[in-house]
Amino acid sequence: MITKSTIDQVYETARVEEVIGDFVSLKKAGSNFKGLSPFSQERSPSFMVSPVKQIWKDFSSGKGGNVVAFLMEHERFSYPEAIRYLAKKYNIEIEETQQTDEEKAKRDARESMLLVSEYAQKYFSNNLWETQAGKAIGKTYFSERGFTDETIKEFDLGYALEDKNAFTNEALKQGYTLEFLSQTGLTIVNEDRQIDRFRGRVLFPIKSMAGRVVGFGGRILVDNKKTAKYLNSPESEIYHKSKVLYGLYESKQAIAREDCCYLVEGYTDVIQMHQRGVKNIVSSSGTALTQDQIRLIQRLTQNIVVLFDGDAAGLRAALRGIDMILAQGMNVKVCSFPEGEDPDSFAKAHSLDEVHQFFADNAKDFIQFKASLLMEEAKDDPVKKATTIKDMVESIAKIPDAIQREVYVQSCASIMQISEDVLFSALAQKRAKGEATQRKTQQSHPQTMQVVQQATPSLTVDALYELEKQIITLLMLYGNREEVFQESILQFSKESQEVEEEITEVKAKVYEKIFLDLQQDEVELANQDFKVLFYVLLEQFHTQGELKMDKLMPSLSPELSSLVSTILMNEEKYLLHQWDKKNIFVKQRDEQVGLMVTETILSLRKHLVNMKIESLQEEMNNPEEEHQGLLEDVMSYYQLRRLVSTKLNRVL
Ligand code: CTP
Ligand code: MN
Repeated sequence: MITKSTIDQVYETARVEEVIGDFVSLKKAGSNFKGLSPFSQERSPSFMVSPVKQIWKDFSSGKGGNVVAFLMEHERFSYPEAIRYLAKKYNIEIEETQQTDEEKAKRDARESMLLVSEYAQKYFSNNLWETQAGKAIGKTYFSERGFTDETIKEFDLGYALEDKNAFTNEALKQGYTLEFLSQTGLTIVNEDRQIDRFRGRVLFPIKSMAGRVVGFGGRILVDNKKTAKYLNSPESEIYHKSKVLYGLYESKQAIAREDCCYLVEGYTDVIQMHQRGVKNIVSSSGTALTQDQIRLIQRLTQNIVVLFDGDAAGLRAALRGIDMILAQGMNVKVCSFPEGEDPDSFAKAHSLDEVHQFFADNAKDFIQFKASLLMEEAKDDPVKKATTIKDMVESIAKIPDAIQREVYVQSCASIMQISEDVLFSALAQKRAKGEATQRKTQQSHPQTMQVVQQATPSLTVDALYELEKQIITLLMLYGNREEVFQESILQFSKESQEVEEEITEVKAKVYEKIFLDLQQDEVELANQDFKVLFYVLLEQFHTQGELKMDKLMPSLSPELSSLVSTILMNEEKYLLHQWDKKNIFVKQRDEQVGLMVTETILSLRKHLVNMKIESLQEEMNNPEEEHQGLLEDVMSYYQLRRLVSTKLNRVL
């Protein structure tokens, strides 16, 4: 792991405008810079960088954050990769935390395996371009398949000579050890003999998302029934077949930019499509897609189009795998090619426009595709039709989003010519079964007002999210301002012999007011990100007396930095379009800060009380619970709600 002090040093040194300036051409605009969004095709600039706040915001895509968040978004780096990139740019030496000997050995071993794989790739490419046999056999093979020199170079394709151990001998001569040659599977060690795994094959290097070579696929040159067409690197410490997608490194930026990923089966399909201009495409290397692979794609987009070869064999089996993509909440389309064609042959024979047109005409929503396909098979057979319905419900039940499920129920009902009610009730049964097991693991805490987030319906959570976000926004924009707040104190009046509410005016800083009010109710923010940020902000106000953005940003995760930049840059948006010149003025909120703070806190309290009451009522419906205590609780929360509502009304 990279040490905290290195990370801090990177943040202190890196300038967001310099780093982004390497990728986006920026122009000065007031105290900010602006430029064309690198995340969308646009003509007028909506991308903004603030050197003062050290943040950026892209108003066309809504993305934003600190310098690291930019690299993660634009270059698709992981967090450590981004830090390493910046360290390199600014000549900062990277310190690693103390590792145990075992960890160190493992890390060193992995690194050695990666280095020997990189060397192998260079060696095999060199064969292809420089040796007689490589040029005559390997290069000719790729050329005949229609790959251009540029494509061959971009994918670092290579050739392994028809020799027992040409590669191993050369690698050993270069100082690479047998240990790692063997662990990567590049060399097969057999007692005292050392043989190259790949001989007389063209090679497709398989890269990690970050672009490091982790393994190879080697194809024979002449198809013959006796030998397997592809020989691949074995599973190893650096190569896990189920966690890699072929072509991801070459396509990740296009996938993010197009907000869509095409999925094919073979290496050659990826390369041919890529060469044709469809650059957002990856391959699962002939196996069913795994959870890990879906997650890789999900870092880039929510939309996936699965491309099937023309032969219908395996189509039904493949449909099952797709349910898993649905379960991840992704939007799935499928597209099958004409009989006898695959993505490779299709891309080779058609122009880019034709390919795009073909996708536009033939990509079908997965659920609808599956329903049509199964219905076709079931035709007038009622038994088969019943199975089909069950099968469809199985798929729809996997979709996490309720609204989307409903839309699918409607379209499936019409495709299968059955009533929506039948589908809905089958779906409800299916989901009830799934949820029963989940619920057992949840616990409630009746004694505090704290809210257990998963136990609440999603709509309520959204309101809660918005209120909590408002709290954070107020803290960030106005935390240090002194405001006059109205506070009510309940007092027992001797004259009237009743509890009376007395209103006083209190001067306080916004952050103090928010902190004290929430603390009084034992309210913790339910959203983890907000909660972390909340305490970071309070601490800054408390110890430094103000918010120092340059101190704040390094401590934030990329997600949090994105949120912070959204809040802070929101005000700047108006400058971008020079709305003031067009006489459209931003409403001045400044005068109402005190009121907004009070209103937000009270709304949050009211919301939490409502949620509490709801959950108590639910408990009372449970016959096994003791009711008397619960009833009292509910009554006192009712009282609290009335009080909060009165206060809220007074503010509004
Ligand atoms: N595959 C494999 N081993 C095999 C056959 C296939 O690992 N014996 C994997 C490869 O990753 C291959 C993918 O499955 O890319 C799809 O197989 P196929 O469509 O047969 O291969 P293509 O890449 O299309 O190769 P080609 O067009 O050269 O036949
Ligand atoms: Mn093929």
